Amino acid sequence: MCGIVGYVGSQQATPILMAGLKRLEYRGYDSAGLALLNGEGLKVVKRPGKIRELEAAIEKAPIKATCGIAHTRWATHGAPTQPNAHPHTSSAGDIALVHNGIIENSDVIKARLVREGYVFVSETDTEVVVHLIDYLWEEGEPLEEAVAAALRQVEGAYGIAVVSSRDPNKIVVARRGSPLLIGVGKNGEMLAGSDAAAVIAVTRDVVYLDDGDYAVLTPEGYRTYQLEGQEVDRGVHEVTWDLAAIEKGGHEHFMLKEIFEQPASLADVMRGRLILEEGDARLGGIADHQFDLGTIQRIVITACGTSWHAGLVGEYMLEELARIPVNVEYASEFRYRNPVLEDRTLALAVSQSGETADTLAALKEAERRGIPTMGIVNAVGSTIARQTKFGIYLHAGPEIGVASTKAFTSQLVALSLFTLFMARRRHMSVVQGREIVQSLQQLPSQVEEVLKLNDEIRDLAKHYVDSKNFLYLGRGYQFPVALEGALKLKEVSYIHAEGYPAAEMKHGPIALIDDDMPVVVLAPRDPIYSKVVSNIEEVKARHGRIIAIVSDDAPELQGKVDYMIKVPQTLPHLLPVLTTIPLQLLAYHIAVLRGADVDQPRNLAKSVTVE
Ligand code: AGP
Repeated sequence: MCGIVGYVGSQQATPILMAGLKRLEYRGYDSAGLALLNGEGLKVVKRPGKIRELEAAIEKAPIKATCGIAHTRWATHGAPTQPNAHPHTSSAGDIALVHNGIIENSDVIKARLVREGYVFVSETDTEVVVHLIDYLWEEGEPLEEAVAAALRQVEGAYGIAVVSSRDPNKIVVARRGSPLLIGVGKNGEMLAGSDAAAVIAVTRDVVYLDDGDYAVLTPEGYRTYQLEGQEVDRGVHEVTWDLAAIEKGGHEHFMLKEIFEQPASLADVMRGRLILEEGDARLGGIADHQFDLGTIQRIVITACGTSWHAGLVGEYMLEELARIPVNVEYASEFRYRNPVLEDRTLALAVSQSGETADTLAALKEAERRGIPTMGIVNAVGSTIARQTKFGIYLHAGPEIGVASTKAFTSQLVALSLFTLFMARRRHMSVVQGREIVQSLQQLPSQVEEVLKLNDEIRDLAKHYVDSKNFLYLGRGYQFPVALEGALKLKEVSYIHAEGYPAAEMKHGPIALIDDDMPVVVLAPRDPIYSKVVSNIEEVKARHGRIIAIVSDDAPELQGKVDYMIKVPQTLPHLLPVLTTIPLQLLAYHIAVLRGADVDQPRNLAKSVTVE
């Protein structure tokens, strides 16, 4: 949700900023811009549309500079037009600012500044901050003093980077509620970025700012402060993944690359965490909190989107196998109601990015109520990962495709590891534990098997390119998979799709079924299979076009469904890992055939850092 890059050093800034921006394009892609500082002052170039539009403009009129900031936008306030694109500048054109987040009191500040004679040229909430910095900047003060003074008056969420020709060769960055990190270069160069992808081509050494921090970057180094003025040391961390992880590696799209990475990402989430002999999971990130976990009597899972679907599967697993009551909450709902959180409740946030604003806010609400918080997060060092008391990392590597694929299956496995850990400390026998460990060990190679269906699913997709609607049905562990399959299709192909509990269909959606309605039914062999067969009969009786995802030859379905896609068999609570993958491939191929931009679907952004 908006990407920020900054560079100050001895090299030409433009190529470094543009390369960083391209790696952040997944965060927002409706306009882009940069501001460069050189001996001639501050130059700003911005364009509506994707980063290639900005690139073309810069190629026509290159600017030499060794300090600059850049931005790729996902619009919150104001349409994606040139005036609304970032950077925003002071009226004299001597301060430039890029922002990710929402300034909640922008109207109040704007009214004040208009009274002082400031003229606004955009519809954004961001522009107030640059004028406020200008207004508060006292003669002789360094830029950071003015930025800090302005931020003390601002309400809402921000990650910002600011440069000024009045105090050149310096970038001031700050964050509250939106991510921002510093890249510490080796040869007198400093970077800033919304995430490590922006800086990794230059350095792996990063400093994560905390909420309420600001920092001053110059070729001589960096200093970090709290908004109140106190200097702080946030420590340097090493990014462990490399550039190849954020490149397409020969695949046409990141989404396809990430779908095909799943055997490896699943092996990674389990690496060193399975103890076959003891039928148990070794979870370093939570083992030290056995006391907290041992006394837990309820778990509240908060998440959004695909991560919420993973949370639903988690609910079923934890209740069935660990016998712990679980509620799964949309983080955006949880944060604004007044949920009952008794003692001995654990708040568990599930998030790929670790930056989703609603999930973070729900977590903070739980914390305020004094209950322990845990995270299942992919992005190492992300805000949610640092905010939670303990957690489990997915180690899935960067996920760039806006539609989450490999992170989802890793979330399912992380939740099953957590379930095993909790169940074995309650009542689960070693025998049952071993059976689960053995089944988990087989998952990566079973996923390889499912991926061999790619060509078959691509051919199948051709029949559905012109469909207007899709229904996805599943029961038990497969109900969240139905929701996830529908979400994937909607996101990347723009076909309307609904996921529904298969039996609940009779209570309404069955009215939609006719010979024009594709219905994807999750029907692997699990304890509820025979009931799903009956639901399939109901759809068939209304001439629905059925694609069934099965886990054996499913003789009961022969002649009743139009297509059958067969995945390997595993334990019921692990089947979602396998049944999800054909749905990811189906959504991908339909979208590609429709000419959609699968990695950057319209209106979406990878991590939603505004509420
Ligand atoms: C999934 O394909 C999404 N684009 C979206 O629903 C996502 O899962 C959601 O925004 C939550 O993100 P998070 O996992 O990074 O918190």
